Amino acid sequence: MASIQSLKAGIVIGSTRVTRIGPQIASFVRDAIQSPLARNSTNATQSQIQIDIIDIKDFNLPMFDEPGIPNRFISSEDYSNEHTRAWSRHISKFDAFVFLTSERNWGIPAELKNAIDYLFHEWKGKPAMIVSYGGQGGVHSAEQVKIVAGAIGMRVVDGMINMSFPSREFVGKGLAGESLGLDATDQNAPWSEHVPEISSIFWDHLVKEMLVSK
Ligand SMILES: Cc1cc2nc3c(=O)[nH]c(=O)nc-3n(C[C@H](O)[C@H](O)[C@H](O)COP(=O)(O)O)c2cc1C
Repeated sequence: MASIQSLKAGIVIGSTRVTRIGPQIASFVRDAIQSPLARNSTNATQSQIQIDIIDIKDFNLPMFDEPGIPNRFISSEDYSNEHTRAWSRHISKFDAFVFLTSERNWGIPAELKNAIDYLFHEWKGKPAMIVSYGGQGGVHSAEQVKIVAGAIGMRVVDGMINMSFPSREFVGKGLAGESLGLDATDQNAPWSEHVPEISSIFWDHLVKEMLVSK
């Protein structure tokens, strides 16, 4: 079993939309995982696990353009395109993932599905947790991410976080990419009610699975 200090989890921002709110939600999720408001008994370990935000946008992935099927490849260097190799090398560094997904027409954002499809062994066998957001919490998209993650052999942990937009004004800010006022340390801030469950699923389920699989 690995020591917790050697573990690395990545929060994948599942949107590359021009005025996206994904990045501020990713920061909120990371803060929630590490928040003092969070209910859990593993506080002593919280500063010892590395939690990075993974932005698909940084990798400029075109629509899937590898000639081969990713499940045939074992090394990052086996892929044909440098953008795939760079994405593969990065994802290979992580032991577990938090997929952060919005919902488009009741479905998974195309760029998230595309980024997942590019790779296989880099995901396979690793634990995954799903956090979604949308009018009804993004539940349709979350279910689809779960199916896709299952197809590539990920171990999706029990418990999903589906965060519903609290008002029309909030939706408008979201579409425009404006600040949503999220603050995982403030009980009066939007979505603060999700802080304990985000932290609990991360520490009690995802980290436990990471330790088992190491
Ligand atoms: C093309 C499109 C389709 C959308 N469809 C849905 C939907 O089915 N359900 C939902 O809750 N929100 C939907 N929305 C609203 C998004 O949840 C909202 O724009 C959110 O900010 C998207 O996340 P992002 O800013 O991180 O990309 C849609 C938005 C767009 C642009």
